[in-house]
Amino acid sequence: MIEPDAAPGALQRPRVRIWDWPTRAFHWLLVLLIPALWWTAENDQAEIHVLLGLGAFALILFRLLWGLMGSSTARFASFIRGPRAVMSYLNGHAAKVVGHNPLGGLSVAAMLALLTVQAGLGLFATDDDGEVFGPLSLWLDEDMVETITELHETLFNVLLVFIALHIAAILYYALVQRKNLVGPMLTGRGGAPEGVEEMRGAPAWRLAVAALVTLGATAWLWTQL
Ligand code: HEM
Ligand code: HEM
Repeated sequence: MIEPDAAPGALQRPRVRIWDWPTRAFHWLLVLLIPALWWTAENDQAEIHVLLGLGAFALILFRLLWGLMGSSTARFASFIRGPRAVMSYLNGHAAKVVGHNPLGGLSVAAMLALLTVQAGLGLFATDDDGEVFGPLSLWLDEDMVETITELHETLFNVLLVFIALHIAAILYYALVQRKNLVGPMLTGRGGAPEGVEEMRGAPAWRLAVAALVTLGATAWLWTQL
């Protein structure tokens, strides 16, 4: 993460591109959906939960595809780095490209993995009365579905811990390091020191492929409800 004050004394370029709009849309839609998913599950609105759950599944599937074919800062290969890169970052060596830093990248990878498993388990879950079914729950026997539903409930608490740490990290950067990470996640742009490579966008056809695969898979799940 490179922000205007990332390297004291470094020359600043005005507002380079950091995040593309699909990555930002993914993030903020997810931020809206998670509380809604929690609320509907806790307040006997399982039918709405399943519909919103399919929305979350679609977002996450899209993000996974975008991590393989999206713009430079959205790609897993750009932010899931080895221990050497993490150590070098911790020893104070600034990144040469914008995007998640090697440490933040690991936590993002963990959160995306958790979200994937959470949404995946939801597809096989049912409510307590056995009246509302995840679209794939009929594939498995009752005991298995019960176990998966419990896992789906438990994993949500793990997700909450990660979300709390995530927000604490953003606050730490804002208050202690005086780096505004939220601005770039909203506008797509932010400052970067001279010599740091800005985001390279992906061609529109890749967005079309990721969107079509996501829509196809989600529409098929919808037909299984
Ligand atoms: C990241 C996405 C998701 C989150 C955060 C989430 C969260 C939750 C939570 C917290 C509960 C348990 C509530 C309790 O303690 O009883 C729950 C239950 C459930 N979820 Fe999800 N869920 C997600 C995705 C999905 C998906 C994709 C589906 C299916 C399409 C789904 C289907 C269900 C069902 C059927 C239940 C049981 C309903 C109930 O007990 O009210 N969920 N979910
Ligand atoms: C439901 C709660 C949240 C979840 C599940 C979540 C999840 C994520 C994920 C998966 C990413 C990685 C983005 C990507 O590459 O796709 C991310 C990044 C980010 N999130 Fe959140 N987020 C949540 C809430 C928030 C909130 C409330 C804020 C700010 C007030 C926030 C600010 C940010 C920022 C600034 C980044 C970019 C970090 C960087 O510069 O490396 N998030 N978040």
